[in-house]
Amino acid sequence: MKKEQVVNCQFSVWYPIFKKYTIKSLILPLPQNVIDYLLDDGTLVVAGSEHNTQQIHGNDWESNEEEDIQWSDDDTTTTVTAPEFPEFSSKVLEAINALGGNVFPKLNWSAPRDANWIALNNSLQCRCLSDIFLIFKSSDFITHDLTQPFRVCSDQDSPDPDIKYELVLRKWSELIPGGEFRCFVKENELIAISQRDYTQYYPHILKQEEQICQAIQEFYTLHIQYNFLDEDFVFDVYRDSLGRVWLIDLNPFGEVTDSLLFSWEELTTGEITRHQEGPAFRYATSDMTLQPSPCLSYRIPRDFVDLSTGEDAYKLIDFLKLTKSRQEDEEEEEDEEEAPQ
Ligand SMILES: Nc1ncnc2c1ncn2[C@@H]1O[C@H](COP(=O)(O)OP(=O)(O)OP(=O)(O)O)[C@@H](O)[C@H]1O
Ligand SMILES: [Mg+2]
Repeated sequence: MKKEQVVNCQFSVWYPIFKKYTIKSLILPLPQNVIDYLLDDGTLVVAGSEHNTQQIHGNDWESNEEEDIQWSDDDTTTTVTAPEFPEFSSKVLEAINALGGNVFPKLNWSAPRDANWIALNNSLQCRCLSDIFLIFKSSDFITHDLTQPFRVCSDQDSPDPDIKYELVLRKWSELIPGGEFRCFVKENELIAISQRDYTQYYPHILKQEEQICQAIQEFYTLHIQYNFLDEDFVFDVYRDSLGRVWLIDLNPFGEVTDSLLFSWEELTTGEITRHQEGPAFRYATSDMTLQPSPCLSYRIPRDFVDLSTGEDAYKLIDFLKLTKSRQEDEEEEEDEEEAPQ
């Protein structure tokens, strides 16, 4: 996979070509100060957000009686703030409203699929810039786009192409995972199709194997084949309940893209080629194939989530008490050490 192939798979490159066959979306250039903020490990909370601003209450935790705790707005309250981006924020809000009020956010290539656990609704659905920041700043996939988009390219000696970072806002659509498929195109031929959510068994795929495969092939020949800038690429589709096929995304043909139920070796060495009957089609065939979700490893223990979102106030109180008693123990130990013999 060459750097140029990665460049061609940016959303703003493929979207204008296939706009008619995909989910309505808007692209906003990402200002440099926003990129810097996304890459800065220190700050998480965005100022100016009604529901994401976290408040630290001065000394409330020193109380011994849990019942006595006053979550008041007195002047010992400190608001953790982050930089504000008023101009960009209003552009984002305008775009979100134009797309119906709920969006699915991405950068040039990736969505923050590894970070949905941090959102209050456990989903990537966003309604304002602070929702987007919260999941973007928690996502390794977003950091990958920003820092090393050409990491696995074969032409490492050539200079990295100049990338203009963009925030992609897609109209929120309830996609049923069993309707999603990943399609592999080599030398302009559709050689393989894999169920996208390979962790689950969907009986309807087994029953409708032929119709699904045929619908995707037809969609490819009519709308995609020879219309893209490369002859090797991977595209994702959604087959809706009426049997219509929609384009979801375009990805580079190479290791950065998950090969799902195929292996990259099979796909690149010619082991999988287009047969007369059509592309190879793989899907989970029984409950035995159930596997854990690949994004689970990005999650953190439930207790951490409760603490970070303040969802369980008692857990937070216990945590602060524990921290305080540890500090006191340490201080006592230090005093003992310093005491004259
Ligand atoms: N507009 C949308 N509304 C709601 N959910 C969406 C939308 N677009 C995509 N999704 C869901 O999010 C998943 C990931 O989307 P997408 O393929 O754009 O992300 P990605 O980062 O490019 O993923 P990959 O790394 O696998 O290529 C899709 O499989 C789909 O389930
Ligand atoms: Mg993708």
